[in-house]
Amino acid sequence: MSEDRDALIDAARDAASRAYAPYSGFHVGAALLLKNGDVVTGANVENASYGLTLCAETVAVAKIVNEGWIGELAEVAIVGGRPHGDELLGTDPVNPCGRCRQILNEAAERSKTDILVHCASGDGKEVMTYRLSQLLPAAFGPKDLGLID
Ligand code: THU
Repeated sequence: MSEDRDALIDAARDAASRAYAPYSGFHVGAALLLKNGDVVTGANVENASYGLTLCAETVAVAKIVNEGWIGELAEVAIVGGRPHGDELLGTDPVNPCGRCRQILNEAAERSKTDILVHCASGDGKEVMTYRLSQLLPAAFGPKDLGLID
């Protein structure tokens, strides 16, 4: 178990505690590790018009893009589950949805890194780690529009 990985997962779990998810009750946190070691987090933001929900990964990526750090992404951790007091319940790792894989790919390509994606269960006991290219093979991205060498 890498300490870096576990610290990133802990940051994602902490972010999940700030989710706004009154409709699903499912709290997701994402933590983005930047190349300089900084960590930027996001949590899901639901809406009474359900389809407008923003996923945790999307919120976190939007934050780094707006800070000018789209090319600085190194690694991602995602945690999700149902809150119970201070705990997050859930025994299965949470995988990023299809839209979030595409959103992550934009920053990953700009960062010239096939980023690691750590998918953790709410209780933290189960973690699956992938390369983004495993989760989104043959991706369409900025390289296809000639924006990356
Ligand atoms: N959710 C995320 O935040 N990220 C994902 O990759 C999958 C789903 C959120 C959206 C919604 O608020 C809740 O999980 C249940 O779908």
